[in-house]
Amino acid sequence: MNTSQRLQQTIEDLVDDRRGILAADESEPTIKKRFAAINLESSAENRRAYRSLLLETPGLGGYISGVILFEETLGQKNASDTPLVKVAWNQKIVPGIKVDKGTEKLVGSPGDLITKGLDGLADRLITYIEQGARFAKWREVYPITDTNPTQLGFHANAEKLAHYAATCQELGLVPIVEPEVLMDGDHEIDRCEEVTEQVLSAVFQALLRYNVTLEHMILKPNMVLPGKNCRIAGPNEIAEATIRVFCRTVPAAVPSINFLSGGQSPEEATINLNAINQIGGPWHLSISYGRALQQPVLEAWQGKAEHVEAAGIALLKRARLNCLARQGRYEPNMEAD
Ligand code: 13P
Repeated sequence: MNTSQRLQQTIEDLVDDRRGILAADESEPTIKKRFAAINLESSAENRRAYRSLLLETPGLGGYISGVILFEETLGQKNASDTPLVKVAWNQKIVPGIKVDKGTEKLVGSPGDLITKGLDGLADRLITYIEQGARFAKWREVYPITDTNPTQLGFHANAEKLAHYAATCQELGLVPIVEPEVLMDGDHEIDRCEEVTEQVLSAVFQALLRYNVTLEHMILKPNMVLPGKNCRIAGPNEIAEATIRVFCRTVPAAVPSINFLSGGQSPEEATINLNAINQIGGPWHLSISYGRALQQPVLEAWQGKAEHVEAAGIALLKRARLNCLARQGRYEPNMEAD
């Protein structure tokens, strides 16, 4: 297979009209925070046990087509000594890897952030491919204030995403391009819409400048939402604003848009995805949720071996409901099943 055929094969393995992606790629500081909420120490062994639990959940592959892993997990094995990458494949779940190195302040632009990790990226990607990764993820983060993002913020972040995506495609890894406009703040939904439109517009201009093949990438955006400290918006308002922005900015050649959950509750993330799919568009509209899939799992597990089964049931429930939402067939009363 040549590089283009490899990329196409990964897209076909990841994208269908039922399944979505599980983001289980929390960095060490982030997983420490998640474990602290259930009073669990973030040791390598606990992280291994937790990620094994996720990937070994029976039936998960019926709803989940890909998993984003953290570097450490790519080299870990389950209790019976099977590499976790193989455990994923056994469920027809494609393994991928987070390749960015987190954010820092953007010099020259107070209030904006920029993501680190381009130095030596190609060498790291080659190692990840040898370890079994078939796709990668890179996240740029955009806080909203009255003055941010600035023009420099839009352009510098877009440039990094495009450079990363082109590097991945050259080596045969499908890039997940994740520009995340944060929910933090008290802005109205209109302000999020305006910022998300500018972000996506700058990102796609940069992707084209870097000759990224749009058919061989996945977009992982935020939904258009009001700030966390603002009034609550209904699913229809959110869905209309989100699809309006995509129609203006995301070419139809992009095969799939897989949302991040970004701090929405698991139920909100499902109901909003459902409303978005009821409108629809030329792309698949699916998930790449972290917290909205995992929060109920962590609560059920509590770090205890005797709760592994209950934790798996919690994961399967959210994965199944999002699979219905992805087809526009979810109803809130299904939460009681
Ligand atoms: P959330 O769904 O928790 O926002 O995480 C998705 C993710 O991968 C962030 O990079």
